[in-house]
Amino acid sequence: MASRSTTPADDARRAARLRAEIERHNRLYYVENAPEIADREYDRLYDELRALEAAHPELVTPDSPTRRVGGEPLEGFAQVRHELPMLSLDNTYAVDDLRDFDARLRRLLGATPFTYVVEPKIDGVAVALRYADGRLATGSTRGDGCVGDDVTANLKTVRTIPLRLAAEKPPPVFEARGEVFMPKEGFAALNAERAEAGQPAFANPRNAAAGTLKLLDPKIVAGRPLHAIMYAVGAVAEVEYATQEELRAALAGFGFRAPPRQWKCADIAAVIDAVEELKGLRHGFDFEMDGAVIKVNERSLHARLGTTAKSPRWQVAFKYEPERAETVLLKISVQVGRTGTLTPVAELEPVRVAGSTVSRATLHNEDDIRRKDIRVGDRVLIEKAGDVIPAVVEVLKHARTGREKVFHMPAKCPVCGEPAARREGEVAVRCENLQCPAQLKRWIRHFASRGAMDIEGLGEALVEQIVDGGLVKDPADLYDLTVEQLSGLERMARKSAQNVVDGIAASRQRDLWRVVFALGIRHVGARSAQTIEEHFADMDALMSAPPERLEQLPDIGPVVAASIAAFSARPRHRELVRRLRETGVAMRAARTPAGGGPLRGKTFVLTGALESMTRDEAGEKIRVLGGRVASSVSKKTTHVVAGGEPGSKLDKARKLGVEVLDEKQFLKMLTDSRVSPEWR
Ligand code: IVH
Repeated sequence: MASRSTTPADDARRAARLRAEIERHNRLYYVENAPEIADREYDRLYDELRALEAAHPELVTPDSPTRRVGGEPLEGFAQVRHELPMLSLDNTYAVDDLRDFDARLRRLLGATPFTYVVEPKIDGVAVALRYADGRLATGSTRGDGCVGDDVTANLKTVRTIPLRLAAEKPPPVFEARGEVFMPKEGFAALNAERAEAGQPAFANPRNAAAGTLKLLDPKIVAGRPLHAIMYAVGAVAEVEYATQEELRAALAGFGFRAPPRQWKCADIAAVIDAVEELKGLRHGFDFEMDGAVIKVNERSLHARLGTTAKSPRWQVAFKYEPERAETVLLKISVQVGRTGTLTPVAELEPVRVAGSTVSRATLHNEDDIRRKDIRVGDRVLIEKAGDVIPAVVEVLKHARTGREKVFHMPAKCPVCGEPAARREGEVAVRCENLQCPAQLKRWIRHFASRGAMDIEGLGEALVEQIVDGGLVKDPADLYDLTVEQLSGLERMARKSAQNVVDGIAASRQRDLWRVVFALGIRHVGARSAQTIEEHFADMDALMSAPPERLEQLPDIGPVVAASIAAFSARPRHRELVRRLRETGVAMRAARTPAGGGPLRGKTFVLTGALESMTRDEAGEKIRVLGGRVASSVSKKTTHVVAGGEPGSKLDKARKLGVEVLDEKQFLKMLTDSRVSPEWR
């Protein structure tokens, strides 16, 4: 920690050391998969740097790891002209195409000997990263190959992109080229989160990565799981690599994630073997792989071979077919989601596809089933969207026997039996009963999840038991759980029970956005909750905000706003929030928003007793809104808030002509300040 006795030079040195250290641990963790320290230790370093930078904003550098959380929103993207064009690749689909490719090269090169390398073809978004004197200067997309978008701010949030090259003496110019992608797992999680929040799913990881890079708000990008693999260079100065193998090693040495495998091949027969071997490995990578790239290894030959209009002659892509499988749809069952959505699920005769056995596939909704005319008993083709999420892509209608059954969504929730209904304008059918056990378990699990209240130890099995046992009927009940109650449950030793109780207690201090997200309000994801925290002082302000106010917030549309308002209007939910507060869950915004907040520049002095809150609470509300609180009245005081039986401060205020607010006026000022367009 920065202690009182440090000098500015000490602080600067410490910050530089922390930055280097954190970047090194970032690389070890994200790129090399070989962390040296525990997450907590990493968090400690990170928090120290953040605190240091907060206390001394002049110490912040553009390449500080703390900048990875995303900077200010952009109006639009600037354009970047690529010093060397970003070309694309010719595709091949058959082994004979590869032999033709080899024959062409041999014709062009005559007797000159050469070798090949084979690498996975990553299905992502091509980017160029330009480093000036080792620091990331510009990150851009391919665009039309000559001019791309400047997406530097977004790319800086990607942990596998070094902000500085790991080299004592980096080359003055170094442009790494490669692919930004969304790992398959992250893609599945993001889509699940979007589905829960009522947002449309991305069709595959590549679309998700491309859509994310195009967002104008880097803070949202920072919350999305993006990775990068670099496999090529553009413009560079003062470095040369004789072969692709050397280049790959150099990229890794600089701290990039390079292609995980590279086969060196003496001839085209070896290339064909490598392409075949790679195909077998495709499902083991965290990225989607849509083929292999075959490159001439010796870089001195690249210029000799040159390029055609759109692609270099010295490399070619070999595309793999997406895997599909045929199976029988045995049954359509209906699942109930945390927010009550009834989702039809295809129960399939188990079949191998894209590296795993699939026995269920989502059918999205009733309309989708109608459109594809999917019936129970049909033979169907399934494919994994983005190699991850199994989907029924086609019905083999010629195989119908006439015994297939048309499916209808149930009119009642299959879990609680209460009526399920389709609201106007929505495709989803929902169970509206929040106490529906299906939703309660999911709700509690969501409430406790890492992205929400982050309660350690409250796993699925435990949630099952506490809900089934009637110990928990809503999230506020969690805070009443005792070690005695929990240690009576299955697989719960006293010690683990204590840990759970401690974990629940610790969650009382979570940031406001986590509580908002944890409430499981329909359409409100973690990101919207964060936006809310940036604009509201506390939960009360949110719960009493009319939808028109909510709609003024960035990224909050009418649907989300209406959903929050509907949630807040229900007595049951107001009661829940009241009980959460009563049990000590903090429900105030943690930070003063960047830029100062609506009470910026105002200094308050509080005197006398307020009816609706303590003076401490009032002070906190003022600070959250960007104002200052002083203990005595002076010329700098802009407002005195006078409660019952005010002291001499009120007299002094009157003498100095300072504006005096009574409690009602003060409360009105707080309410008026809660959402202000300038407060971003
Ligand atoms: S080499 C001339 N190596 O696939 C540009 N490209 O479909 C080729 N890609 O434009 C650069 N993995 O965006 C190369 N290991 C790899 C690759 C790769 C994916 C992308 C790249 C290229 C596209 C062509």
